Amino acid sequence: MSGKLDKLGEEAREALQATSSLDQLADWRVKYLGRKGAVAQLLRGVGELPPEDRPAFGQAANELKELLAESYDARHEELSRAAAGPAEALDITLPGRPVNVGRLHITTQTLREIYAIFARMGFQVEEWPEVESDLLNFELLNMPPHHPARDMWDTFYVNPKVVLRTHTSPGQIRSMRKHCPDPIRVILPGKCYRYEAVTARSEFMFYQVEGLAVGKRITLADLKGTMVDFARQMFGADRKVRFRCSHFPFTEPSVEVDMDCIICAGEGCRVCKHTGWVEISGAGMVHPQVLRNGGYDPDVYSGYAFGMGPERIAMIKYSIDDIRLFYSNDLRFARQFG
Ligand code: PHE
Repeated sequence: MSGKLDKLGEEAREALQATSSLDQLADWRVKYLGRKGAVAQLLRGVGELPPEDRPAFGQAANELKELLAESYDARHEELSRAAAGPAEALDITLPGRPVNVGRLHITTQTLREIYAIFARMGFQVEEWPEVESDLLNFELLNMPPHHPARDMWDTFYVNPKVVLRTHTSPGQIRSMRKHCPDPIRVILPGKCYRYEAVTARSEFMFYQVEGLAVGKRITLADLKGTMVDFARQMFGADRKVRFRCSHFPFTEPSVEVDMDCIICAGEGCRVCKHTGWVEISGAGMVHPQVLRNGGYDPDVYSGYAFGMGPERIAMIKYSIDDIRLFYSNDLRFARQFG
């Protein structure tokens, strides 16, 4: 009897390999595994065996049945996949999905360009807190409480003694106190905040890059050379730069730094509002009292400081007419740079 089982197993496996369609496979199943199929019929014959042989035969027959059922499942899977056709198969000629590559925001790019230019002139980058004391943001910069010059900087107060810095100039005091009595050449980038209406020209949050040089015999000529060099590296070798008288409580004298308009080269256009000049920075010689507040003796040391807006620099460079675009998260804007 067990010889019969082996023979049946062999025959069934051969027939299974020979099936080439799901229909043929269904027939195979009826023939071998069906209720009246070959395996069932062999099992039915178990009664003709001597009683002691029956359990072993029954077990062997059931094992064969299970094995054939597994083989059937495997074959079913193979034939179904083939029947589904090439769509289901792995198509290595399909083009891959493009990876969405990110890029640096135009503000970051501009900041890095500014760092690189000043690094070549020997300036190091230092960063100070955005949440600042009223003392550093105003008082130590020659603006005691109620000083009218505070009106230049509408302020977000955290509490009566703490503000969101309205400019990066408090960093002048922090850097001086950190480095005193050594000479200093630093730029201090970071975010500033002003309690102002948002318009195309002003945001309530924006970046500034402060510059500070302190040492012996530093003069306004050094400031001028630094500003001219910066303008030419940033905007092109033939830029002209002019200083206009201005006022800041923490510099004396104070100036505003203008550059001839890169769009019209001084002819007059929308970007320069038909003046031929665009403002790129506020600046001046560090006020003696501010030097003192930073720990330096103004009879021995002098210094210059400047403060510029990187968004404004980028607006001039790329003719961007609305500062709100920098903070709008509009990909159509962001993708235009880099
Ligand atoms: N802090 C000034 C501003 O925010 C700019 C400035 C910096 C002017 C350094 C002079 C010196 O407008």
